[in-house]
Amino acid sequence: MSQKEPAGVSEAAIAVHWQEEAYYHPSTEFIAQANMTDKSIYERFSLDNFPECWKEYADLLDWDQYWHTTLDTSTAPEYKWFVGGKLNASYNCVDRHLGEHKNKAALIYVPEPEDEPHLAITYQELYVRVNEMAALLHDFAGVKAGDRVTIHMPMVPELPVTMLACARLGAIHSVVFGGFSGKACGERISDSGSKVLVTMDAYYRSGRLLEHKSKADEAVKVAANEGVTAEKVLIWQRYPGKYSSDTPPVEGRDFIVNDVIKQYHGQRVEPVSVPAEAPLFLMYTSGTTGRPKGVQHGTGGYLAYTTATSKFVQDIHPNDVYWCMADIGWITGHSYIVYGPLALAATSVIFEGVPTYPDAGRPWRIAEQLDVNIFHTAPTTVRMLRKAGPDEPAKYNYHFKHMTTVGEPIEPEVWKWYYHVVGKGEAAIVDTYWQTETGGFVFTTMPALQGMKPGSAGPAMVGIHPVIYDEDGNEIAAGSGIAGNLCIRNPWPGMLQTIWGDSQRFVSTYFAKYNKNPNSTDWRDWPYFPGDAAVQAADGYFRILGRVDDVINVAGHRLGTKEIESACLLVKEVAEAAVVPVNDEVKGKVPDIYVSLKPGYDASDSIKKAVMQAIDDNIGKIARPAHVYIVSDMPKTRSGKIMRRVLSAISNGTDVGDVTTLANPQVVDEVRGLVQG
Ligand code: PRX
Repeated sequence: MSQKEPAGVSEAAIAVHWQEEAYYHPSTEFIAQANMTDKSIYERFSLDNFPECWKEYADLLDWDQYWHTTLDTSTAPEYKWFVGGKLNASYNCVDRHLGEHKNKAALIYVPEPEDEPHLAITYQELYVRVNEMAALLHDFAGVKAGDRVTIHMPMVPELPVTMLACARLGAIHSVVFGGFSGKACGERISDSGSKVLVTMDAYYRSGRLLEHKSKADEAVKVAANEGVTAEKVLIWQRYPGKYSSDTPPVEGRDFIVNDVIKQYHGQRVEPVSVPAEAPLFLMYTSGTTGRPKGVQHGTGGYLAYTTATSKFVQDIHPNDVYWCMADIGWITGHSYIVYGPLALAATSVIFEGVPTYPDAGRPWRIAEQLDVNIFHTAPTTVRMLRKAGPDEPAKYNYHFKHMTTVGEPIEPEVWKWYYHVVGKGEAAIVDTYWQTETGGFVFTTMPALQGMKPGSAGPAMVGIHPVIYDEDGNEIAAGSGIAGNLCIRNPWPGMLQTIWGDSQRFVSTYFAKYNKNPNSTDWRDWPYFPGDAAVQAADGYFRILGRVDDVINVAGHRLGTKEIESACLLVKEVAEAAVVPVNDEVKGKVPDIYVSLKPGYDASDSIKKAVMQAIDDNIGKIARPAHVYIVSDMPKTRSGKIMRRVLSAISNGTDVGDVTTLANPQVVDEVRGLVQG
């Protein structure tokens, strides 16, 4: 085995390499109304005009104090954007629209049960709710600027209300995906040092009212064990006035928001004007090693970037009804349900439920009823809806002008179904590549300026200057179609500021591999490495091949294999665990788990169940593996490293390659027999 061959297996290595497709073009009607039809924007955002070009983005916001320095690189690669500027994110998403749009729906909430009415919240109503919640957080829970607040909530309008209330106070929110376990939430409370946890009693999913509050009890316990006390737990009620959890509130610690907020009726809280570089939020995301890391986004840079990309790429106008069917607990929901659309005074739809419940026609009924004209979802959902209800969209009278796909590569066949059947051949599609860390889209076509090519994300976003490197840091020729590691040469306002509390991890994760000089304050020496492999075709379009590290993208959600493996090791019989990504028809990738047992234990279904349970408890159901295989030994190198590449080939039914140099080549046949029969 060569020195450079990774011990594990990357998604990129098992990626599907489909053939190049012909272009599709947006309609003349779309182009005629589009926000961005000016090709010269690429010139304006060329590297020659860096960094001053970003003023164009910043000027989409209202500043309390205008900034004097576009980019400060003195602490590179921890950059500061729009230095000297002051603003408030909640003011920009709410207050500034009151003049022109106060009676317009800011949010439309669609509960999962179809017999519950939709709830439209106007900008005026949002203003009132955000103010009252900000007053409660400040006066009742003692939250002030710079404090962290952990929010563990489902898809309900009280979630963006709570986020915007934090932003109003200059507090830093840390939203944890509702589907994560109490333990995962507790670890995030602990890492961020949050004294307040905001949660909800229950929510609907697939026709059942799920209890949620008990996760808060677990979370507080886990954080306390790590030395962080969540002093107050604030519980929203799914049905205001009725407590829907069988886990009672803890005396002196837990408070029902719907009761307490009555004291703050009519209160207004002046938005706290924070420096542009003040952190707006943390979003924990999985990495190669250790626990999830707190990706830190700043107020001015992030908000400018999400606002501009929402306007230019998603083509949001104030009179559009925009529906992004992601969860606000992930970055897509932060940037493209809450901050971007609201900064543009759009109407943003929030859907509580799952797309296929009670049937695969549900999304299209919602689209018809609300007259949604911009739609945004992930390939995994498109695949699911195509499988469950291929003819459903045609039954409903809705018309999308624009559709987004995000989070994973989309197969050309699936793209074409999205285009012809969901979009009825009328909608422009953007395949947007980005990450929690990038804040907003970094690769995509500009919908009115460039053709769409199924299976390709497209060129880099304006102002994003990409390069593909080989393992040794040599540039791979642009447009050569040769795979390598994707990097971005320059900083941009939406990029993460750092990892919360861990600058070193920030540098080592994203920059160490291709950094040219660790002491440099010149941004040219710090290409950003997102951790994905890619190829660029001769037309300049990029195709993303997948992760090159120990991260698996399951249904568009990032999971660290190390996190899953360490959960498996909590099962007392398990000696070793290895997690590999397997191609899946619907979810893109799913984890397969291989475990070997300590001496004296025999393989049994109860051990497999215990492994599944450990993953549910420590991470959440989204990390559930497709299979748990109990093997007598792992294929290993002579130095004792588990060869995940071999296990992945077996799980995916592909060639395992040369295994003669393994310490124990005989296990390969045994494992293959177990998996493939
Ligand atoms: O591997 C890339 C993949 O998703 C990862 C980022 O995951 P996360 O931070 O959870 O954010 C997901 C939503 C932005 C990337 O490193 N990815 C994202 N978008 C695409 C993609 N892969 C291919 N095509 C995309 N459009």
